[in-house]
Amino acid sequence: MAESHVIIRNLSKSFGKTKVLDDISLEIEKGSFTTLLGPSGCGKTTLLRTIAGFYEVEKGEVSIGNRVVNTVPSHLRNAVMVFQDYALFPHMNIRENITYGLRIRKTPAEEIERKLEKTVSYLDIKNLLDRTPGEISGGQQQRVALARALIMEPEVLLLDEPLSNLDAKLRVSIRAELRQIQQNLKITTIYVTHDQAEALAMSDTIAIMKNGKIMQVGSPSDVYYRPDNAFVASFVGTVNFIEGTVKTSSEEKVEVEANGSLITVREKPADRQIRAPRPGEKITLSIRPESIKMLENEPEDENSFRGTIKNYIFEGSSIRYWVNALGRELIVDVFNPPENALHAGDICFRIDSARIHLIFQES
Ligand SMILES: Nc1ncnc2c1ncn2[C@@H]1O[C@H](COP(=O)(O)OP(=O)(O)OP(=O)(O)O)[C@@H](O)[C@H]1O
Ligand SMILES: [Mg+2]
Repeated sequence: MAESHVIIRNLSKSFGKTKVLDDISLEIEKGSFTTLLGPSGCGKTTLLRTIAGFYEVEKGEVSIGNRVVNTVPSHLRNAVMVFQDYALFPHMNIRENITYGLRIRKTPAEEIERKLEKTVSYLDIKNLLDRTPGEISGGQQQRVALARALIMEPEVLLLDEPLSNLDAKLRVSIRAELRQIQQNLKITTIYVTHDQAEALAMSDTIAIMKNGKIMQVGSPSDVYYRPDNAFVASFVGTVNFIEGTVKTSSEEKVEVEANGSLITVREKPADRQIRAPRPGEKITLSIRPESIKMLENEPEDENSFRGTIKNYIFEGSSIRYWVNALGRELIVDVFNPPENALHAGDICFRIDSARIHLIFQES
């Protein structure tokens, strides 16, 4: 069993009458990259700030490294936070910004110099030291903010949407770099974002939040392919939902009738949530756009259906189609499409029975 590093137990917090964190429990593994993912206002920053020690714990418990830190002041928690807007001191140069925390701690000058040298070479920002925050780019500010946190050699790194001020291309490249840094340092990292692509790309574990509650905790592929509920399924990527009625249910397969058609589900029983579906019950099928394949020929076997292309967009590496079929509109992604790909008309397609996930009505 991997060791838990940060443990949150039954944590609640309100601002006035509004409950912002609602009985949150979460264990964060030592050395892992854990992302808090959720829509704006769901409580991500509040949870991160509570772990950092900027908010008092009203109810519940926060532990870091086997120590309950509810009453431990922020600077003694060994958890350092990088803020969304970086919060660099505008009147100090980059050297002074990065060494600020060590200077406050009264660290000896030669030790500060050694750590500064190490951190700035590692992050490749040596040439910025004499400038002020106003004289460097957004991406460089992001690095400086990270340097200011890492130089403290914290046990836990807390990052609040650190990439949200950067342009799309830079965001993608810094994403990979940040993940690399985290893996090299093996530092326990809690990362906040509302960007699902970022969460999937960077995390070992994702905790998905909604209205102050945690909806699911799992690996990126868990939450992508095995969402516990419709909220998680639709928040983490694009999804087709098909409602139907269970006709047969066995270990090997589940057959679901939807709009007069029979859809076979061969998801592994271990991947189903809670329990086996019961014949007669209403159920929702969750199907990713890439789990539907266009067919050259007439459908004949399991899960092959006919449909009509209603719309499409060319995305370079793929084409996204909107197809009328099974009494609804389905989104279908075709990767590496031929240049003469169809743009309209009737088509046949097959849904990958192993990649259909069942969502129960009660969840
Ligand atoms: N200091 C505060 N006083 C009162 N209400 C607050 C305070 N801070 C946050 N809130 C409210 O608490 C809720 C959660 O806020 P929080 O900043 O944690 O959300 P978030 O998930 O980080 O959102 P975003 O993605 O927009 O940053 C929001 O409804 C917000 O308006
Ligand atoms: Mg926030």
